[in-house]
Amino acid sequence: MRAIAIVPGTAGSRVVDRPEPSITGPDGIKMRVVCVGICGTDREEVSGGRARAPDGARELVIGHEMLGQVVSAGAAVTRVASGDYAVFTVRRGCGQCASCRMGRSDMCETGKYRERGIRGLDGYQTEYVVDSEQYVVRVPAELAAVGVLIEPLSIVEKAIDEALRLQIVRRPDAATTPDWIVGRRCLVAGLGPVGLLAAMVLALRGAKVYGLDVMDAATVRPQWLGGVGGEYIDGRRVPADRVEAVVGPMEVIVEATGVAALEFNLLDALALNGAYVLTGIPGGNRPLQISGAELVRQLVLDNQVMVGSVNAATGHFQMAVDDLRLGQLRWPGHLPALITHYPSSRFGELVGHAEPDAIKEVIDWWSPSATPLERVTPSRSQ
Ligand code: BGC
Repeated sequence: MRAIAIVPGTAGSRVVDRPEPSITGPDGIKMRVVCVGICGTDREEVSGGRARAPDGARELVIGHEMLGQVVSAGAAVTRVASGDYAVFTVRRGCGQCASCRMGRSDMCETGKYRERGIRGLDGYQTEYVVDSEQYVVRVPAELAAVGVLIEPLSIVEKAIDEALRLQIVRRPDAATTPDWIVGRRCLVAGLGPVGLLAAMVLALRGAKVYGLDVMDAATVRPQWLGGVGGEYIDGRRVPADRVEAVVGPMEVIVEATGVAALEFNLLDALALNGAYVLTGIPGGNRPLQISGAELVRQLVLDNQVMVGSVNAATGHFQMAVDDLRLGQLRWPGHLPALITHYPSSRFGELVGHAEPDAIKEVIDWWSPSATPLERVTPSRSQ
């Protein structure tokens, strides 16, 4: 079968031929890959940055944002059946620490975790994949067109859940009023897929959402933000340190830019007692000057939390499925507009430079409507 592979630490990618995998145990699930998204991590990997091949291998099959359809499942599998749409999660635990043993490898304590398509395990930019049931999340058929957003949305779900839970512990109003976030100003910085999905989730929770980036308001991303009720802030006219004066202080900030200098500057927009969660992973090692004393003084005197959040547990993937469904109901047709499909032959070109009008670029491996799946038995009803 075809797959797209990289040699970690070097630039470029190539199409390789790999043996089709098969199920080896009763908890095994084999999926035919429908499509796989491309994100900043893939771009970093293809440019020779953060990535690791499986032990003993030179090449790594890239890709971690997948949607598939189950073609076969071992005898012990109960969560999915043949014909179901589903996604596999990304991280595989170290098997040693308490977090990994309780299914929370996103909080691995040893750092010896692996990640499919990123760190030590082949990924999903290929035709078929196999993994075990503990890593699968079923996707209802009505979400098939947007299911490829579940992985990036899982990152958002974890980040926002952490910020809101922290506030529930710290703020008396949040502790006593479940809907304290309703109508409160929340800022999303960086209008890539993660930022836009964060805007959607905050809007679903009832927040007054703002989105900051540096592009013209008439372009696709600010327009998409407007579609979920978010207000666009053009950072070229209102930089982070002016947001508070011009728009007002933000109770929650979700950062999704991966630009280290901005990640710190955004603190200027955070309200007293506010929570700031970072999801962007800056590449490179360009030095950055920050005013340390000022930053710490503000965090302490303003009772603020700044938290980094990476990866997601199976529960966050499930939250993503639920919010995708809510998003589809509330803004019909809006979520599919995030996605642009491309054939696998265009991977190398797309990963090198982002298409200006595409928000989430997705590589199609197989179109379920075009090719009937002969090998599967009918899906159980939804
Ligand atoms: C992925 C996460 C992963 C992180 C760090 C992100 O792009 O979505 O699943 O944990 O990179 O490797």
